[in-house]
Amino acid sequence: MPHQQSPDSPSRPAEDAPPRPGPVAAGRHAVVSGASSGIGAAIVARLLREGWRVTGLSRTDPRRPEPGYTHRPVDLMDTAALPAALAGLRVDALVHAAGLMRGGRLGELDHAAGETLWRLHVDAAARLADLLVPAMPDGGRVVLIGSRGAMGIAGRSQYGASKAALVAMARAWAAELAPRGITVNVVAPAATDTPMLRDPARAGTPPKLPPIGRLVSPEEVAALTAFLLGPEAGAITGQQIIVCGGASL
Ligand SMILES: NC(=O)c1ccc[n+]([C@@H]2O[C@H](COP(=O)([O-])OP(=O)(O)OC[C@H]3O[C@@H](n4cnc5c(N)ncnc54)[C@H](OP(=O)(O)O)[C@@H]3O)[C@@H](O)[C@H]2O)c1
Repeated sequence: MPHQQSPDSPSRPAEDAPPRPGPVAAGRHAVVSGASSGIGAAIVARLLREGWRVTGLSRTDPRRPEPGYTHRPVDLMDTAALPAALAGLRVDALVHAAGLMRGGRLGELDHAAGETLWRLHVDAAARLADLLVPAMPDGGRVVLIGSRGAMGIAGRSQYGASKAALVAMARAWAAELAPRGITVNVVAPAATDTPMLRDPARAGTPPKLPPIGRLVSPEEVAALTAFLLGPEAGAITGQQIIVCGGASL
C-alpha cells in the first residue's frame, strides 16, 4: 500500500524519498587518485570538508594537515605496486583523477606518450576499480575524471581516445553494478585552472579559454564529483557529465 501522508504532518518524508543532504558523508571513506595536485586535490579538500575520510594516491605526498586524510604514495603505472598500495582498504567510493596531457598531430604522434596516456588513464582506472569495487558496500560510488577532449579535438587524438575509453568502461561497469546500487560516472572538464595547463611538456597544445571567458575552476569539478558521490545521485549512473563553460557547444 502506498505511503499516505497525513495533512497534519506535512514535513514527513515519503518512505521512498531520497536521503536529505547534510553531513551525510560522516564516516564514509573515499580513495582519490591524483590527490597531490589540481582537480584531485580539490576533490580531496571538498570531500574532507563534507566529512569523508580520504585516502589519496599519487607519487607525491601533499602532506595535508586534515586528520581525515591519509596518503599512500604510489606510481599508478607501476602495476606490481598497486595491490600493496591498496592493501586493507575497503572504501565507499573511488575517484580516479590522476592524469596528464600529451598532444600531437598526425605525422608527429609520440607513441610512447600514447601508451602512457592509456596506462595512466584507462589501465590504472581498471586496476583500481578491479581491486576496490568488489569489496565496496552496496550503494558505493565510482567517478572517473575524463575530459571534454573525449569528443575529439585536433592535436589531442591519443589523449581524447584514452578519455573516451573511460566512458565505455564507466557504462559497462554501471550496468554490472546497478543491481548493487553502485553508480559509475565520468566527469569531463574542459580547460581547468590547474598545474597541468602549465606543464611544459604540453606547450605545443595550449588550452583554449571556454566561451564563459574563464577557465573552469578545480573546485567546480570537485563540487560535481562530490554530488555524484553523495546520496542524492543514486539514480545517476553510466553518464558522462561535461563541465566545459560552453566549450563543447
Ligand atoms: N586541467 C585541465 O584542463 C583538465 C581538463 C580536462 C580533464 N583533466 C583531467 O583531470 C585530471 C587531473 O588533472 P589536473 O589538471 O588536476 O592535473 P595536475 O594538476 O597535473 O595533477 C595530476 C595528478 O595526477 C597525478 N599523477 C600523474 N601521474 C601519476 C602517476 N604515474 N602515478 C600516480 N599519480 C600520478 C599527479 O600526482 P604526482 O605527480 O604526485 O604523482 C597529480 O596528483 C586528469 O585526468 C586530467 O586528464 C584536466
